[in-house]
Amino acid sequence: MPAFTSHIFVCCNQREPGHKRGCCDPEGKEELRSCFKKELKRHDLGALVRANEAGCLDQCELGPTVVIYPQGIWYGNVQLEDVRRIVEETVIGGRVLEDLLIPDEALNAKKAGKDKKGE
Ligand code: FES
Repeated sequence: MPAFTSHIFVCCNQREPGHKRGCCDPEGKEELRSCFKKELKRHDLGALVRANEAGCLDQCELGPTVVIYPQGIWYGNVQLEDVRRIVEETVIGGRVLEDLLIPDEALNAKKAGKDKKGE
């Protein structure tokens, strides 16, 4: 069996309401991850691509956050209706969706109450 071609890490972190950083899965339902799993199954990709639950990916203010490895593509504000496009365009087609992309310069740059040094 070939190795996995991609791992999709879906932030399923839940924090208490009103937390200053918010969170990607306020209701703790893992709907986004479930949607990825269904879409991968629909494309019969289950043996090659995994959609894994992730804890906080430290991009909370830009979430819901998803990162795809080994490509290292970070997507932010991912909604359920984006999942089909991500699977079809990025995972299968190899194209980056610019409207969802978190640019490198924005990664780790917007932490409420912290500066870039983590203070
Ligand atoms: S809670 Fe999702 S990136 Fe932090």
